[in-house]
Amino acid sequence: MLKRTCTCGDLRKQNTGETGILSGWVNTYRDQGKGLVFIDLRDRYGLTQVVFDAEDTPENIMELGASLRREDVVTVKGEIRLRDGKPNEKLATGEIELVAKEIEIINRTAKLPILPDDHDADKIGEEHRLRYRYIDLRRPKMQKILQIRHKITQFTRNFFADREFLEIETPLLITPTPEGARDFIVPSRHQTGQWYALPQSPQIFKQILMVAGCDKYLQICKCLRDEDPRADRQAEFTQIDLEMSFVDQDDILELMSTFAKNLYKEVGGIDLGDLPQISWKDAMNQYGSDRPDIRFDLQLKDITDIASKTDFKVFKEACDTGGNVKAMRVPGGAEKLSRKKTDAFAEVAKTYGAGGLPVVKYQGGEFLTGVAKFVEPIKDELVEALGLEDGDIVMFGVGSYRVSCIALGEVRLAVAKELALIPEGLFRGLWVVDFPMFDWNEDAGRWVSEHHPFTAPLETHIDILETDPGNCLSSGYDLVINGAEVGGGSIRIHNPEVQAKVFGLLGLSAEETEDKFGFLLNALRFGAPPHGGVAFGLDRLVMMMIGTDNIRDVIAFPKTQTGADLMCEAPGAADPAQLHELGIIMREPAQTTNSE
Ligand code: AMO
Repeated sequence: MLKRTCTCGDLRKQNTGETGILSGWVNTYRDQGKGLVFIDLRDRYGLTQVVFDAEDTPENIMELGASLRREDVVTVKGEIRLRDGKPNEKLATGEIELVAKEIEIINRTAKLPILPDDHDADKIGEEHRLRYRYIDLRRPKMQKILQIRHKITQFTRNFFADREFLEIETPLLITPTPEGARDFIVPSRHQTGQWYALPQSPQIFKQILMVAGCDKYLQICKCLRDEDPRADRQAEFTQIDLEMSFVDQDDILELMSTFAKNLYKEVGGIDLGDLPQISWKDAMNQYGSDRPDIRFDLQLKDITDIASKTDFKVFKEACDTGGNVKAMRVPGGAEKLSRKKTDAFAEVAKTYGAGGLPVVKYQGGEFLTGVAKFVEPIKDELVEALGLEDGDIVMFGVGSYRVSCIALGEVRLAVAKELALIPEGLFRGLWVVDFPMFDWNEDAGRWVSEHHPFTAPLETHIDILETDPGNCLSSGYDLVINGAEVGGGSIRIHNPEVQAKVFGLLGLSAEETEDKFGFLLNALRFGAPPHGGVAFGLDRLVMMMIGTDNIRDVIAFPKTQTGADLMCEAPGAADPAQLHELGIIMREPAQTTNSE
């Protein structure tokens, strides 16, 4: 068997005259007749032109060369020579070619269902690409993504190893970890009728590692959440997960800011700039989002006080029921945004719970169109509060506090897209801090954690934890880059009584708390240091760095929208004997609703 001596990306002008052996896939072939056959041989490292030239290539090898087709796997031995004519400047190996002297056809390829060409990828349905992922992954673009992903994990391991973090694995078959999604569950054979949960994250284990004295923990780990995939969400995804003892919030934010900035610089060549902090409240008030995109300027203003002076029913209703009216001024929007466009933005607002999107144009010192006649009485105040200038359009978010902010915040993003306000290639991030501990869930009739139940209240807010949970702020934080939540974490509760109180506020009885989290409470009772941590979404980091908004692009073997792995055809039916052994009888599944 011929053994390769170099890769398809290695050879240069200075290698001319040498003998080389290359292995790879036939990327293209051209039979020019007159005893000349060219193939481009491809491997992960590049492309090299191989020529079968009747003048220099033995006759039997010429014949084999002429029989090659795309994606055949071959090893070729030959002599490196300068190309005739102009070099191919698009290829690193573009000055040379390998004149075939020997060839081993290792595997001929059957008729291909798809071709691994970047320029054709968009035309091939994604389902097809996922089904034949091993061909799709041969594309240079996909190989590049895998490399970037590798560089990120490599950088991460080195960065944290240099700072004394220990990489420690945590189990996959565990008891539920509440991160707010549905658990995947796995039946136990030894204990029939009992189930493991797959980890939504290693949260509890990493905290217990701090109790165990490990001090600094890192893991690049799989997390499993049975939730509907979205463009930036998979049921099975990867986190860069950390925990540290004897630290406060500033220590963690400082370390993770250095990590994020260095990572973007070294792997992506991207300058993240500073990573300022903004409180959750300011983020909601100014950007209508807890993950604000600060690459463009549009901001929201609360005008509830002014709006309450009108007779406009929509405003009045919100003001009278403790809700809010938010306004957003879009400079120059009067001309640029047609009725059709503002109607489309209204649909966006409705998706996020608003009744609609009142708008008004400000032109020639007058309010025109939309809700002009309703806001006329507050014209001067609005002009002043919003700093309106001729040609602006104003949009209003109306509803409960969260709805008024979030609906208008989403419109803000849609306007930015429509008016192309986001500069290409710009990266801007920030930390969102001072989240509320809880959000009141109307349907469940109880508080739910804004982060997760192990997040500590701000030290200065412990007193109001039980008396005023709605105003209690937590020591949770999220890193947001270009409007995407890249990571989140918190300082944890290390006091078992406080932890039990939080479980109580979340609606768990003392028994349920002991039953579900007794082991954690016990660990906290036996010498728990103060600790905190964070997890970054690895897939999202790669997405941002390569500039895709499809998470499936950055995962070697992703799942579809319905959680299927099309290549290996999972999920599939279980063997009846296996179900029998586990004591499981199949029946029609109950209708489920989504958790979010
Ligand atoms: P959280 O649930 O906020 O925190 O997750 C941390 C980060 O993981 C990424 N992420 C996801 N990426 C892809 N698909 C998903 N379904 C998905 N869900 C989350 C996001 C997110 O910011 N245990 C805590 C961390 C901690 O407190 O230390 C946790 O998992 O980028």
